[in-house]
This record gives sequence, C-alpha cells and structure tokens, in this order.
Amino acid sequence: MAKAKYTTHHGMVDILPDETPTWRALENIIHEEAAKFNFEEIRTPIMEQTELIKRGIGQLTDIVTKEIFAFTKGDSNYVLRPELTAPVVRSYVENHLDQRGGSQKLYYIGPMFRAERPQKGRQRQFQQFGVEIIGSDNPVADVECIAFMMRIYQRIGIKNFTLKLNSVGDPESREAYKTVLREYLQPNFDKLSELSQKRLETNPMRILDSKEKEDQEFIKNAPVIGDYLNDESKTHFELVCEMLQSLDIEYTLDPLLVRGMDYYTRTAFELTSPDLGSQDALAGGGRYDLLVEEIGGKPTPAVGFAAGMERLFIACEELNISLADPKKVDVFIVSLGDKARKWALKTLPKLRESGISATMDYLDRSMRAQMKDANRENASFTIIVGDNELEEGTFTLRNMKESDESKLSLDEIIKTLSN
Ligand code: HAM
Repeated sequence: MAKAKYTTHHGMVDILPDETPTWRALENIIHEEAAKFNFEEIRTPIMEQTELIKRGIGQLTDIVTKEIFAFTKGDSNYVLRPELTAPVVRSYVENHLDQRGGSQKLYYIGPMFRAERPQKGRQRQFQQFGVEIIGSDNPVADVECIAFMMRIYQRIGIKNFTLKLNSVGDPESREAYKTVLREYLQPNFDKLSELSQKRLETNPMRILDSKEKEDQEFIKNAPVIGDYLNDESKTHFELVCEMLQSLDIEYTLDPLLVRGMDYYTRTAFELTSPDLGSQDALAGGGRYDLLVEEIGGKPTPAVGFAAGMERLFIACEELNISLADPKKVDVFIVSLGDKARKWALKTLPKLRESGISATMDYLDRSMRAQMKDANRENASFTIIVGDNELEEGTFTLRNMKESDESKLSLDEIIKTLSN
C-alpha cells in the first residue's frame, strides 16, 4: 500500500468505523451507570486559558513544564486541556453552580491533550471519563467516587487490578511533612535530578512523583506522609478506609502515592492493572479541597477521578472482552434496473420509519455483487426487486441466515420485519 501523504500527528489516532461501536458501548455504560449514581454530565470547551491550567495543576508539575500544547492568538493564551478537573472547577466557579444547592455531582467524557512521548497506552490525544463531586468533604463523597470508578470496570468484567490508596494530608500536615522531606533530601541535593533540585525548595512532595532514574533511590527510602498527618486528616482517611471495607472494595495502602498534580489534598488513589504494561494506571484521582478557592471561588471541598479510555480498551483486549456487537443492518435492498432502484430509494424511508434499519446498493452493481455486499454488511434480510416484482407488486424477502425466501407485498414485509 502506498504511504499516505498526510498523517495524524504522532500520538494522535483516528478512531475508525470498526472501532466506534466499542467506544459507543463504553460511553453508554458510563452514561447508564452515571445516571444510577445520580451524576450529571458537564461538557466544557477543549481549550482553556493557559493560566488556569498552570495555576490549577501546578507550575512545577510535569504536565505544565513539559506536556501542555499551548499557543497565543491575539491577546489570548490558549491551552488544549490536559485534564478536566481544573476546567470543571473553573466552570463551577464561573457559572455559580454552588447556587444549584447541595454538592454538585458531575461527570464527563472527552478528549485530553498532553505532549508526552507516545507509547502503548500513552497518547498525545487521549480520552478520559471522570467524575468531580464538588461541595462535600465527607468521606462518603470520596467513597462514592471510588465506587463509581470500580463499578464501570466491574460491569465490563475487568477485575485484575489494584486500588492504591494514600492520604496526602491537609495543608498543616503537608507543611510538617515537607519540612521533614526537605531535611531528608537536602544532604543529597547534588545527586538529585535537575528538576527535583528545582522542586526541593518550592514543592518537595513533587519529587516523590519523579520518574528520573537518579531520584529513585532517595524516593524509595523517603519518610512517608502517613506519619505526619494531623488528627483531622488521619480521621478522614480512616473513615474512607472503613467505608471502602464496608463496601468490600479492596485496596492497598501506598504511602508514596502523591499523583501528578499539585491540587491534591487528603485522599489520593490510583487503579493500576498488570495487563497494561509500563503505563499501568487505568484511573486515578483524589481530593482537592483547596482548588475551588485557588481558582477564585469560595472555599469548597471536592473529590474526583479520571480514567483513560484507551487503557481500558487495552485491558479488554488482553482479557478478550468485546463490548460491541458485530455490525449489522436489518435490510439490504437488492435492486436490478432503473425502475427497481427508484423503488428501492423510495422504500428505504418507509422501512426506516417503521424502525427497520435499511440500506441499498449505490453503485448499480450486479445481483451477485449486491448479495455479496449484503453479506459483508451483515444484513439480516434482503429484499430482491426487479421489473417482474414491480409488475406483480410482490417482492422476494430473503432471510440471509436461514437462506429461505418468501414472496410478499411491501406492507407484509414491513409487518414481518417489525415483528
Ligand atoms: P491523571 O492520573 O493524570 O489524572 O489521568 C487519569 C487517567 O488518564 C490515567 O490514569 C490514565 O489512565 C489516563 N491518561 C493520562 N495520560 C494519558 C495519556 N497520555 N495517554 C493515555 N491515557 C492517559 C487526572 O487527569 C485528574 N484530572 C484526575 C482527577 C479528577 N483528579 C481529581 N479529579
């Protein structure tokens, strides 16, 4: 095959007709389960102000320092959204969603953009679904959020995963921990990666999320935040753990889990799967009690998660799970001659109005070629029509699977197929 002259950008893929049914099946599951949990869908623009993303996610995070697609047009700075937590919070504040009352239970499905080095399970445009519960600091919100996430994988049949759980503490606990962490890392300042050296003063917890080789030894033996939680953070975390247990949701405590964004406070979690290879995170999330205020709203606690949809499909493939039925159409009209083609064109809307999916040949091909097409399209029935059938007013209805045929009027055909 000749090489195409134009291609997608590296790390951005087309979702082709053979694949869209699988995407739709997953989207339907997410919408159905979200409705059961009483989550409401929110859709925000693909582009946001660069400042929002920098401020929301954190100036020294990998996402902001290395991975955002940003450009300027006129006086405005645009960024392709790398995630949806900061944008959803922006929308919550901008549109005064707090005035709707209660906590806002929002969910979303959509594309995100990160200029990462593409590999299996890592793209530059990828799709997430996720949830943000804004307005409650009750551990019930954390647990409902995790329960929704687990429910999606459970319904699909993906069971081979680990839910990693940690608390990254509230501001007071974090200050105490940061001091200890700095003291621990400072003597080895020269051996840390350049980025971690930069982070040591401003944001040492970020170092725990470093992927740089030279940092790993120090990360492994670092003091853990769990030892520095104040009573409030500790109690909150214990309640989250207790409630998860009461729902039989298994988890593993991971004291070094800090996640890739600066907005997290208290609960942090990640769902990883051995079926994914090196990019093993199916989903991740946590609490971000300070973000609403950071973005200009009133102090409002919140918790959420997001899941990578491509990674979910990789897990499905490994487990031989198929979400979509094979493509099919109820009727393919095989028409021979001009008059028959005209009849077919006029018959299609009548079939469709009766709820029957229907198509016909667009290429004026032979009967044989049309029957082949009908098979390729996986048609359940064909209606065969030529001059004789038009004269008689009865048409051949062929059941493709059973290979039996009957001669019927159009009304009878519609009646038969509607049943
Ligand atoms: P995140 O961990 O950056 O969190 O992303 C969530 C999930 O998106 C990951 O676990 C992974 O499955 C998928 N993902 C991330 N980057 C890529 C990529 N380059 N290619 C393919 N899949 C990817 C967030 O985005 C937070 N906003 C989650 C959150 C919501 N926290 C609170 N609320």
